[in-house]
Amino acid sequence: MRLPFGLILVLLSYESVLAATHEKRAYSTHHYYVIEHSPHGGASLAEIASQLGVQVVERAGELPNTWLVRAAKNEAGLERRGDDRVLDTLEALRRQASSSAWARSGNSHRARQVVSSVKYAARQELRQRVKRAPPPIRPGDEPKNLTAAVVERLGIEDPLFSQQWHLVNNEFPQHMMNVTGLWEMGITGHGVVTALVDDGLDYTSDDLAANFFAAGSHDYNDHEDLPFPKLFDDHHGTRCAGQIAAVKNNVCGMGIAYDSKVAGLRILSGSISDVDEAASLNYNYQNTSIYSCSWGPTDDGKTMEAPNYLIQRAILNGVQNGRGGKGSIFVFASGNGAAYGDQCNFDGYTNSIYSITVSAVDYKGLHPVYSEPCAANLVVAYSSGSGNHIVTTDVGKNACANTHGGTSAAAPNAAGVFALALSVRPDLNWRDLQHLTVRTAKVVNAKDPDWNNTAAGRPFSYKYGYGVLNGYDFVTAAQNWQSVKPQTWVEKTPVQIANGTCDFLGDMAGGELIVPGGLTHTITVTKEDLEKDNFETLEHITVRVWITHAKRGDVEVEIVSPNGIKSVLAARRRDDRATTGYPGWRFMSVKHWDENPIGDWTIRVSDVGAEGRHGHFLGWSLSLFGSVVNPDAPLKTYEISILESLLPPVLQSEPSDPPTSTKAHPKPTDHLPGDHGTAPGEADKPAFDDGGNDDIAEPSPTTSPSSPSSTSTPTPDEGWFAGMSNLVSDRKWFFGAAGLVLIFGVGVGIFFWRRSVGRRRAAYATLPAGDDVAMSSLDRDTQRTKELYDAVGELSDDEDADEATGLHPARPQDRSPGGLGFHSGFLDDDDPQSARSTPGPHRAYRDEPEEEEKRVSARASPSGSGGSGDGSWEHASQTR
Ligand SMILES: *[C@@H]1O[C@H](CO)[C@@H](O)[C@H](O)[C@H]1NC(C)=O
Ligand SMILES: *[C@@H]1O[C@H](CO)[C@@H](O)[C@H](O)[C@H]1NC(C)=O
Ligand SMILES: *[C@@H]1O[C@H](CO)[C@@H](O)[C@H](O)[C@H]1NC(C)=O
Ligand SMILES: *[C@@H]1O[C@H](CO)[C@@H](O)[C@H](O)[C@H]1NC(C)=O
Ligand SMILES: *[C@@H]1O[C@H](CO)[C@@H](O)[C@H](O)[C@H]1NC(C)=O
Repeated sequence: MRLPFGLILVLLSYESVLAATHEKRAYSTHHYYVIEHSPHGGASLAEIASQLGVQVVERAGELPNTWLVRAAKNEAGLERRGDDRVLDTLEALRRQASSSAWARSGNSHRARQVVSSVKYAARQELRQRVKRAPPPIRPGDEPKNLTAAVVERLGIEDPLFSQQWHLVNNEFPQHMMNVTGLWEMGITGHGVVTALVDDGLDYTSDDLAANFFAAGSHDYNDHEDLPFPKLFDDHHGTRCAGQIAAVKNNVCGMGIAYDSKVAGLRILSGSISDVDEAASLNYNYQNTSIYSCSWGPTDDGKTMEAPNYLIQRAILNGVQNGRGGKGSIFVFASGNGAAYGDQCNFDGYTNSIYSITVSAVDYKGLHPVYSEPCAANLVVAYSSGSGNHIVTTDVGKNACANTHGGTSAAAPNAAGVFALALSVRPDLNWRDLQHLTVRTAKVVNAKDPDWNNTAAGRPFSYKYGYGVLNGYDFVTAAQNWQSVKPQTWVEKTPVQIANGTCDFLGDMAGGELIVPGGLTHTITVTKEDLEKDNFETLEHITVRVWITHAKRGDVEVEIVSPNGIKSVLAARRRDDRATTGYPGWRFMSVKHWDENPIGDWTIRVSDVGAEGRHGHFLGWSLSLFGSVVNPDAPLKTYEISILESLLPPVLQSEPSDPPTSTKAHPKPTDHLPGDHGTAPGEADKPAFDDGGNDDIAEPSPTTSPSSPSSTSTPTPDEGWFAGMSNLVSDRKWFFGAAGLVLIFGVGVGIFFWRRSVGRRRAAYATLPAGDDVAMSSLDRDTQRTKELYDAVGELSDDEDADEATGLHPARPQDRSPGGLGFHSGFLDDDDPQSARSTPGPHRAYRDEPEEEEKRVSARASPSGSGGSGDGSWEHASQTR
């Protein structure tokens, strides 16, 4: 491996010069790209930039080895749709690197180095995130005055304090955040910073100025230092900030942690690219403890969307490295789409194990019509409904808001309580806060049929999570909390059902027909599984599913634990007419917290739709997250894998989703009902009707033709597949943008290895000039063979690939021995000599498949090296 001295210098200088800067973006004149640089590939960032004709702008937030670069756009009119000079150049280099004709030239070597050094490359597109709270009109509904005692004891002069029922609820004293007792103990949030990732923060407000933390603030919409709200409806972030840290003075009301600091990260006031969203979630993350996020994908009951690769990496980076390693606290509003049948398990932010998902209850403690239920829901906090809103600070020097609400306002109330807790226990980590939440939340509406006990004996409900957050109980428990042991996880290899497959464009094939009554399938967790991963106590489970259906909303998914505890993961969504199914979508449940996971976990996939619309169940996987038995044993570090959604699986590793997408999110006001503050709440309906089909039907293999016609096409609401499909339809070149990641980074060897696993009947499918064509759509079986190098040999040359217009049946005997001439990005050795030294058909390595395969799995294992490579695919460049 060669790491030229110059490279180190260049890296250092880029790091120091660029890491701290925040350039104003010029999307009108430039295309922006994110490049993940793999220094082991042999090319420096400067070399890559010069080869690709781009200019390095700055480091991508806090992500290691990840850079924002840009290239000037062509003159308007000269730029044809589908052309991309930078990505086309990269593609050309890839061809050069892999072309046999060039194999012996120095050019090929250089191309190979560049290509090997680019682990990921994607163009950044702007899109719009959605706020989760709009403000309709509130009928003047004056609460009775029972605040006098608190006002007196604490000398409160804030004129609207008596209207802040979430702080002191005169009418229903059992329903409030219950923090005034903490204030009397002097716990007011001192020293803690919460960032409102939102549409700005009016730091000139008399109610916020004194608690504003400028160093943690940034405007990612206008690329300025300070997040001043500029648009007419930019009041959301300021209102949320007021709930947390409105100063105790004579303006409006008070914040829950009124001596804490708030920062504003403005991302919702316009379009934003993945790289900026990722950076915002790590902004000043050593000093900022909490990121309060009251936004997400559209809450319309038909969207299913997860954060893309860069954003997932940022969130993971936050919990692993933020706050001195104790982890950033990500608080997410569950969403306002309940009235449309939406559920927070269809939102990859709220169903992330790294976020605390907060739903709402109103001032009577009832479930408001808008607040989304799901098995990932951890807790509820107070917000609008049944005639009352949240009263808080507004944009303006001395302005107050009295129409605030939605789950948007529930999340900051929770964040305020977390700020109080961290002010007395700054040493608590991100999982400690989740544990405290689970343990101290209080049941509301005990008679609500949505409640059911967990195996650990705690009441849980999809609507209320573990219950309502009680500030006093939470913070006093935090004072004496012993920090949990480090995290570990058990990942069961994804199971293929009836030869179900999913390629990395999200095209699915095979699977078993979902019969009336549903299909079930079981994964068994053994004691040995737990021991192998040093696993002690269960916290979250995640379930990844591959399902096709002509109407996604007709699919219901639930899982029953070994102890008979059922988590509904997906309930019917009437409006969800997507035909794209679930290409490896990951659900999450917190309902199994502290349950003994040993035994059979049974998933049931059912179809509650009309006759004539069918679907297939292709496969699933189960992951358990929890604490270690022995904290002194070597700990694993979680990594995001780009290839997680492939079926059959290629890596036994961590759940993840990949690249970048380009979509616009509508305004949250589109989905928070106008009467969110006035509509009566309820407490007498289960969140998910059981549909009267509770018996689990046995799967009937006889009725399960593998139907190739049940493939689906990805659409932009499919998480990472979105990026793929957009690119595919936009571009003529094959491994464009997102694809480059997979191909150059890790994908190639794995992908072709896996194809060959399908007994070489596999097609080498390519992306043609046209649109939505699968990369492959193959019959495969689950057998793991040692045909790695065969597989690689099967790679067609590039010309073939470019001419292809669909799936081509593989004719291995016809394949020219071109093969891949480049190495994946994590290779240590990129010396072309080594490639040359083993010419001819079949590699020397064929003789040692065992050993090679072991190296592969070492790489694949989550405990493997930090991704920088052991050379597993080093020789995958060879041909037969
Ligand atoms: C309630 O009491 C507070 C403090 O004593 C006072 O400022 C406020 O005007 C009273 N509100 C009503 C509605 O009586
Ligand atoms: C609120 O906190 C106080 C202590 O200040 C406690 O006595 C009371 O029971 C709590 N109220 C609720 C509803 O939990
Ligand atoms: C924030 O954190 C950094 C690194 O830990 C530290 O150097 C800096 O002084 C802190 N304070 C502010 C205001 O950013
Ligand atoms: C609660 O558990 C019972 C018995 O297992 C079950 O019949 C019922 O559907 C469950 N209710 C909910 C809301 O999960
Ligand atoms: C799966 O593929 C294998 C091998 O190609 C075949 O024998 C088997 O019948 C297939 N199973 C189903 C359910 O289609």
